[in-house]
Amino acid sequence: MKITVIGTGYVGAVHAACMADIGHEVLGVDVDADRIRALASGRAPVHEPGLDEILARTLASGRLRLSTSLADAAAAASTHFICVGTPQRSDGQAADLRYVDAVIDGLAPHLRPGSLVVGKSTVPAGTAVRLGARLAATSPGTEVAWNPEFLREGSAVEDTLRPARLVVGVASAHAEAVLRAVYAPMLRAKVPFISTDPTTAELVKVAANAFLATKISFINAMAEVCDAAAADVAVLSAALGADPRIGPRFLQSGLGFGGSCFPKDIRAFAARAAQIGAAESVEILNEVDRINLRQRRRTVDRARELLGGSFTGRRVAVLGAAFKPDSDDVRDSPALAVAVAASREGADVLVHDPQALDNARATCPELTYASDVPKVCDDADLVLHLTAWQEYRKLNPASLAEVVRTAVLLDARNSLDPQPWWSAGWTVCVPGRPLLSPSALPSTSASSGRGGEQCMPS
Ligand code: UDX
Repeated sequence: MKITVIGTGYVGAVHAACMADIGHEVLGVDVDADRIRALASGRAPVHEPGLDEILARTLASGRLRLSTSLADAAAAASTHFICVGTPQRSDGQAADLRYVDAVIDGLAPHLRPGSLVVGKSTVPAGTAVRLGARLAATSPGTEVAWNPEFLREGSAVEDTLRPARLVVGVASAHAEAVLRAVYAPMLRAKVPFISTDPTTAELVKVAANAFLATKISFINAMAEVCDAAAADVAVLSAALGADPRIGPRFLQSGLGFGGSCFPKDIRAFAARAAQIGAAESVEILNEVDRINLRQRRRTVDRARELLGGSFTGRRVAVLGAAFKPDSDDVRDSPALAVAVAASREGADVLVHDPQALDNARATCPELTYASDVPKVCDDADLVLHLTAWQEYRKLNPASLAEVVRTAVLLDARNSLDPQPWWSAGWTVCVPGRPLLSPSALPSTSASSGRGGEQCMPS
């Protein structure tokens, strides 16, 4: 099939490359000429496992081509995917739809009757219906459908080629048939295909993100309760997750969620619900957001406490800048938020990250960066573990203890094994878990809930 993908950022670049890889003739379109030039020479806009190889393959085969023109797009195909961003509006919590609207307005004069425009961007419920009417006004015989994207950064290619489900919101049998043809290899592989109306499809995406964000904030709220009750959230989480009705995923307590999706999507959902008279139904999302942002403040408070009450003149080593591991994305990164807060309170902050240093430097030039963990920890009064990279689990606590000034670790991600750090003489503080200090009596197991006072007694 011939298709176009308009917007070649995270979602669009991956979608365009993967659709070409499964055999379609794809034209990727973006207003950003630099991005199009980079893509045409095989350079992906983001660090994403597998994407470079697929780009090289599909560009070489000629199945992926690129352009900056919407007129080219309209001429190249009759099925167009919209993958432009829907950021948070600068004047409030709602989604900014100007880029989606601009694509519709730019395409409208060029489209032929029978064309299908398929939105993948995350949008407020009702957007597809509104855009369909807007498009039909200037371009009769055309249609808008919605096919939300569920890909996660770090596994975007895999999530696109082998999705857990496909959801399409369509207003006609023709639109459903087109989308079944686009995703034919996935349907042959028995990926569930859920066909519904466009508004329900839009809601599936925001409701899925809202549910996952709620699960994360729930376990973080439980970590707060564990701190107050002198209990252990790691054991609590494992025990909750063992119930098949609950399940263990997205039940990892820590510094909370960040990135380009969850925070803005739950706010946009709440804003849209208020517009349509359903504010009360999603009031929980405001609390989810508050709990999430509170984890950053609590981490800063704990760090200050561990430093004896003040950051001023103290050296703080930060492990992690990306919003999550296996990503170089620092957008709304909880790790950077904590690092900046410590720096603003007078700490000398040195940041390490395996992939995100360039993006972190560009976003927070006031911090100091280094690509070597021992260098970052040199003479540190406190080590903050803020992004759960696998490589941090392989660190040698004994050799790091020799380079720091004071062997105190705050594992805000609750993802390091505390026992080897403790054995190597470190004080280990994990939110929601008992404090392990060298003076405390050894416990038989770090997850037993014994062996020390709580990280920050309330
Ligand atoms: C998310 C959704 O998963 C995806 O379906 C949607 O399309 C875009 O938003 P992504 O932002 O890439 O994807 O990251 P994800 O892996 O879902 O993690 C989101 C955040 O939650 C990260 O900051 C992560 O560190 C945090 N998280 C995740 C936790 O704090 N605890 C957990 O148990 C899981």
